[in-house]
Amino acid sequence: MKGDAMEIGGDLNLSRRGVLAAGATSAAIATAPAAVGASLSPPCASATPTMPVRFTVNGKPVRLTLDTRTTLLDALREHLRLTGTKKGCDHGQCGACTVIVNGMRINSCLSLAIQHEGDEVTTIEGLGTPEHLHPMQAAFIRHDGYQCGYCTPGQICSAVSVLNEIAQGVPSHVQDDIVAHASPSNIEMRERMSGNICRCGAYSNIAEAMAEVAGIAGGETQA
Ligand code: FES
Ligand code: FES
Repeated sequence: MKGDAMEIGGDLNLSRRGVLAAGATSAAIATAPAAVGASLSPPCASATPTMPVRFTVNGKPVRLTLDTRTTLLDALREHLRLTGTKKGCDHGQCGACTVIVNGMRINSCLSLAIQHEGDEVTTIEGLGTPEHLHPMQAAFIRHDGYQCGYCTPGQICSAVSVLNEIAQGVPSHVQDDIVAHASPSNIEMRERMSGNICRCGAYSNIAEAMAEVAGIAGGETQA
């Protein structure tokens, strides 16, 4: 290379200004047909498919018209402004989005809102209020069942549901050989809560809070 010129290969000799001019011309040529094509194309038929859905949230009937791809989690948070339910992984792996639907806990990030026509949804906002806490909320406070609190709404919804599952005899996946070597109630609750991840590691305190609400002596649990 000498002066302003850049030599590429043997007999090709280009100036820097020439390269820039050539590039600008190429870009103009490349984009021009697309712009012309766009103006001649028919209007894009990509209207978002929507559907109406009605369900009950925390005892109140709601009616929404939603993009059919909207998850129950996004319907709650983005459309109903119930932001107590948290989005963690958005892939069914952390449990932060747990809500109770018709008495059963679900990961609301894995469920389309339009699937819940007629359902009764309970979120953390519907379990208790600051003045009238749900017994599980009060127990979480007494036992320090949280640190940062991000997972806590999901943990509490799940914990309430777990005790109902146990009371109703819904089977768990606890292995008999594990139960034989530890407190069944503690292990069973931990197993049932295993879909709710806590990055702060408040698991022991959560189990103690659950044990207290379940009426297990002194809320005593084993690690
Ligand atoms: Fe739903 Fe993580 S946000 S499981
Ligand atoms: Fe922080 Fe559970 S309290 S993630």
